[in-house]
Amino acid sequence: MPNIAFVNGRFLPLARATVSVEDRGFQFGDGVYELLRTYGGEIFQIEAHLERLKNSAESIGLDMPYAPGRWKSMLESLNRKCGYPSAKLYIQITRGNAPRNHPFPERTRPTVVMTARRLVPPPRKLYERGASVITVPDLRWGRCDLKTINLLPNVMARQKAKTEGANEALFVRGGRVTEGSSSNVFGVIKGRICTTPTGPGILPGVTRVLVLRIAKSSGLSVSETELPLRRLISADEVFLSGTTVEVLPVVRIDGRRIGNGKPGRITRSIAESFRLMAGG
Ligand code: PDD
Repeated sequence: MPNIAFVNGRFLPLARATVSVEDRGFQFGDGVYELLRTYGGEIFQIEAHLERLKNSAESIGLDMPYAPGRWKSMLESLNRKCGYPSAKLYIQITRGNAPRNHPFPERTRPTVVMTARRLVPPPRKLYERGASVITVPDLRWGRCDLKTINLLPNVMARQKAKTEGANEALFVRGGRVTEGSSSNVFGVIKGRICTTPTGPGILPGVTRVLVLRIAKSSGLSVSETELPLRRLISADEVFLSGTTVEVLPVVRIDGRRIGNGKPGRITRSIAESFRLMAGG
């Protein structure tokens, strides 16, 4: 089976997978999600993603419908069934089906959907040339650390980037860069790897943790501190991290050149170490 789905306990072809129009995910965006990927058929960082999923679900008062071991085996069968060496595995849990009414319904089972598709990585050229990003005001709510399906500001930001010929949009709040629409952001400033600290303002990226680990083990100094946009624009190097982009050099922010306008040496070395570690 190529692109497949899992809906409330049943595997089926993705094209035939459906949920109710009364699903609270559809009605209210009342749910959480995770996006995982595979390298050489192996699910990458499964524990970290499941841990974040649990935290997102519990923080919105949603009980995880399955025990951690069960999630793991379901994801593994999803991955086996799709059979792609590089797959994108998506999990979404919503508060279930109920007549539209704002408070939580009393007796509703969460809806669990998982999908598996072939992963099409961003083109190699993008990594060689480096990405262009724009900045947009961060209009999101106060719990960006939770991976909820309320992604309208992210969608709007990314569309603006696309319209302007850029690859990603960086959110700016109070003059500081928080993160990208679907990535975390780093600056290399005087040889130090700088990134916005975790907290309610950003998603604690699984890739972000690995980048910080690689940087430390390469003997680089690391600083988790607020990133004023002015400081980021004058950084020697800038890069993004995320499950789909991995480690992506940024060479332009709002049309202004970063460093010498080419992917930086430190970024390239972190990207290489990441690829070796992930097996990509
Ligand atoms: N997004 N910040 C935001 C807002 C994100 O949506 C993501 C990931 C990240 C990076 O997190 P990680 O390294 O765990 O992938 C940071 C996924 C890929 C998505 O929404 O498709």
